[in-house]
Amino acid sequence: MRLLVCGGAGFIGSNFVRQRVSGHGDEVVVLDKLTYAGRRENLRDVEHEFVHGAIEDAGAVARAIEGADAVVNFAAETHVDRSIAEPDAFVMTHAMGTFVLLEAARERGLRYVQVSTDEVYGSIEEGSFTEDSPLRPSSPYSATKTGGDLLVQSYTHTYGMETVICRGSNNYGPNQYPEKLIPLMILNALHGDRLPVYGDGQQVRNWIHVSDFAAGIGHVLAHGKAGEVYNVGGPDEAPNLEVVERIIELTGADPGLIEYVEDRPGHDRRYSLASEKVRALGWEAQVRFAEGLEQTVAWYRENAWWWEPIRSGAYREYYERQYGRALG
Ligand code: NAD
Ligand code: TYD
Repeated sequence: MRLLVCGGAGFIGSNFVRQRVSGHGDEVVVLDKLTYAGRRENLRDVEHEFVHGAIEDAGAVARAIEGADAVVNFAAETHVDRSIAEPDAFVMTHAMGTFVLLEAARERGLRYVQVSTDEVYGSIEEGSFTEDSPLRPSSPYSATKTGGDLLVQSYTHTYGMETVICRGSNNYGPNQYPEKLIPLMILNALHGDRLPVYGDGQQVRNWIHVSDFAAGIGHVLAHGKAGEVYNVGGPDEAPNLEVVERIIELTGADPGLIEYVEDRPGHDRRYSLASEKVRALGWEAQVRFAEGLEQTVAWYRENAWWWEPIRSGAYREYYERQYGRALG
């Protein structure tokens, strides 16, 4: 298969591209705007074609989609805190970008996979969200992702286009930009920087290793029924404080580095996905959180070449704005 993978230079997209090229022998064209989170280095070991451009740019999309058999869309602004501070790019990429891509795929009769998130369902205190749960997004990030999902579904209802939506839970693993909880805490712990826990640290996330999510998307691409949504959740959940404490153990950092900071506005308490539907397609998560977290800490320890340019660049300014203190 020849795949157009949008946002393939980011964290999950690059892990997906590696699986498709090495594991399935697919040909891949990556279309990526290379925002702060997109990096060619993420794909330095993978054979692929690359088009630099935004999904909301119809010209760039037309160049990249040439000869593709299917489209998988990862392209997004992905950090909730940034969506609270500056929502503009979230609206442009998730609404306009998804629209432009859908149009290009529809014109050519291509199958289309939208990569989405459990955050579209909002927060759940007990139990798990199924694909039929109501959509109650709470942040500008999740609200605009929800808009993208609804547009995708409308293209199947209205035009009979072959679309599928894959909603993942919180991913972790190699190549994740350190604004997110796990890589932020690992790198801060390794550098002796404070570990900023929002609120009481008892918010719960359902963790999935990026290799499992990428494989789930591959399953949905191959076997998902047109017009359907598939939840792809991880095998384990944990409160944030427990995750931070485990990272302290794995890195040998000082537990005194934990600092309780002001809570995120509108912070969702718990996410949880029921994933029976994608399991029925033959997918199963392979990596338990305890083992995956240990491997992830080892990856960040061994790959300073990857994070050093980030930690010494524009990320420092973001960190200072977001946390009101400089990185050490
Ligand atoms: P990421 O921030 O690491 O990567 C996003 C990629 O998209 C980057 O390469 C960036 O340059 C590119 N991009 C951004 N705007 C673009 C645009 N307008 N046009 C073209 N490219 C653009 O994000 P990620 O964590 O890899 O997330 C990928 C997808 O998975 C997103 O759609 C996200 O909503 C979804 N998702 C993420 C998680 C998670 O825990 N990280 C969980 C579930 C779903
Ligand atoms: P994050 O990685 O931003 O993912 P999401 O908000 O999409 O779930 O955050 C995961 C959890 O960790 C979330 O409950 C917020 C919390 N968190 C902190 O406590 N401190 C931090 O510095 C960050 C980035 C997140």
